[in-house]
Amino acid sequence: MALLLSLAVLAASLPWASPAATPGTAFDNWLTATQTDYRVNQALYAKKAAGDNGTTIDESLSKAEDNKTTYVVDPKGSGDYKTINAALEAIPEGNTRRVILDLKPGEYREKIFLNLSKPYVTFKSDPLNPATIAWSDTAATVGKDGKPVGTVGSTTVAIESDYFVAYGVVFKNDAPLAKPGAKGGQAVALRVFGTKAAFYNCTIDGGQDTLYDHKGLHYFKDCVIRGSVDFIFGFGRSFYEGCKIISIVKEVAVLTAQQRTKTIEGAIESGFSFKNCSIKGESGGQIYLGRAWGDSSRVVYAFTEMSKEVVPVGWDGWSIKAPESSGIYYGEFKCSGPGSDAKKRVGWAQDLTEAQVKPFIGTHYVFGDSWILPPPTGKSAPSTKSAGGATSSAASPAESPASSPKSSATESPASSPKSAAKDSSASSPKSAAKDSSASSPKSSASYSTASSTKAASSATSEKKAL
Ligand SMILES: *[C@@H]1O[C@H](CO)[C@@H](O)[C@H](O)[C@H]1NC(C)=O
Ligand SMILES: *[C@@H]1O[C@H](CO)[C@@H](O)[C@H](O)[C@H]1NC(C)=O
Ligand SMILES: *[C@@H]1O[C@H](CO)[C@@H](O)[C@H](O)[C@H]1NC(C)=O
Ligand SMILES: *[C@@H]1O[C@H](CO)[C@@H](O)[C@H](O)[C@H]1NC(C)=O
Ligand SMILES: *[C@@H]1O[C@H](CO)[C@@H](O)[C@H](O)[C@H]1NC(C)=O
Repeated sequence: MALLLSLAVLAASLPWASPAATPGTAFDNWLTATQTDYRVNQALYAKKAAGDNGTTIDESLSKAEDNKTTYVVDPKGSGDYKTINAALEAIPEGNTRRVILDLKPGEYREKIFLNLSKPYVTFKSDPLNPATIAWSDTAATVGKDGKPVGTVGSTTVAIESDYFVAYGVVFKNDAPLAKPGAKGGQAVALRVFGTKAAFYNCTIDGGQDTLYDHKGLHYFKDCVIRGSVDFIFGFGRSFYEGCKIISIVKEVAVLTAQQRTKTIEGAIESGFSFKNCSIKGESGGQIYLGRAWGDSSRVVYAFTEMSKEVVPVGWDGWSIKAPESSGIYYGEFKCSGPGSDAKKRVGWAQDLTEAQVKPFIGTHYVFGDSWILPPPTGKSAPSTKSAGGATSSAASPAESPASSPKSSATESPASSPKSAAKDSSASSPKSAAKDSSASSPKSSASYSTASSTKAASSATSEKKAL
């Protein structure tokens, strides 16, 4: 609460660096209002963040994957369930197996909350003919108790359980876009609070506060993310690879509001890393790469194409008074495009060296070897209805994962922001190829029972490469 209050107090002196942004008081208030109703569960984060340092496939996951089951969901009525909520209700609490919801194409007009007692759930769709899950609540929507639901409550799909996977799904909040200055316009399409969640070929579509990358280890691969202000925010520790990030406003968009901070337990481990992504404004406007929600906000862009809408200063300190001496860590590495010119960046943003960027630009950043699996692209096995109304795939006997020699996958943040003097020659995307091996989910794909030794050794060599 103290933090929120101080944010409000400091709002009047927001250090917006670009004169073109010219936010007025109403705009400042609105920005502040976006931050007043976030809730976090600190104890839970501490528990989930621990893990085994991510060097071996989690045993529980291994078992869950060896005992998959599929529920067909079809709004037209020819599946096991007509709605996603009905299918989720059928999953037992304390679920231990991979449950794949095979989502037939169409619009699912549902608001979804996946309880933490139901891990190992997959939403599988077809990216070319997707299932679209849409709702249109905003923070100002009045809930059952007569009060506004707030940012968290506005969410269309909330995932609080662990080991969630989505493939080819469109997550959408289609509330009308809030006007700058309006209150209660936050409209979250997807909130991810569980750890070890992966999203492949998904679209996350909204306006203000589209993707609440709330907490935990997350991987976004080949996704499209659309929004306006603070549209990727939270204190997840996440790796975004090959994603298209699109501002939909003709005013000012802020791509990230990363909340790494010392004041929330576990949040200091968080950060957003973008690799091989593209950033553009589909309606023009201006795009800030990020602004500091947390006192130690951390965001890295590598090999990312930035369109002309990305403002030259790049970043904003928001309410942090002296960003250069705070814990903020904003860096770029070999990005390309007209918005990537590092010459006019704020002095406290970093043109990273290869050594500095390496911890961020692979699935190792999210300890992916312990949980990232290949996307569930294949056709699901023909269904034979089982007692539970679901279909079962052949279960192969579980094999316990190799216990590999553990090395601590530490990130090595160079903590002092570099001086304003920049080497702009470093920003060409030339050597993009060199690190590709470290970042593909392939090594963890070899997770499947027989090759666990291989997975372990590739994890080891990845660590060495760092
Ligand atoms: C995880 O890493 C930390 C820090 O390097 C270390 O102290 C701890 O023993 C490791 N835990 C496991 C289970 O390997
Ligand atoms: C697979 O899951 C079902 C439902 O939880 C359980 O009854 C069955 O014993 C599991 N099979 C294996 C091999 O673990
Ligand atoms: C999750 O499910 C448990 C068990 O049914 C329930 O007690 C809890 O309130 C649920 N959590 C939320 C946030 O709804
Ligand atoms: C997933 O997205 C990537 C990048 O857009 C694309 O190359 C790939 O074909 C997609 N995969 C599927 C199965 O659609
Ligand atoms: C970058 O992403 C695109 C798809 O968005 C993909 O086709 C390409 O192979 C990726 N390049 C690298 C070096 O990962």
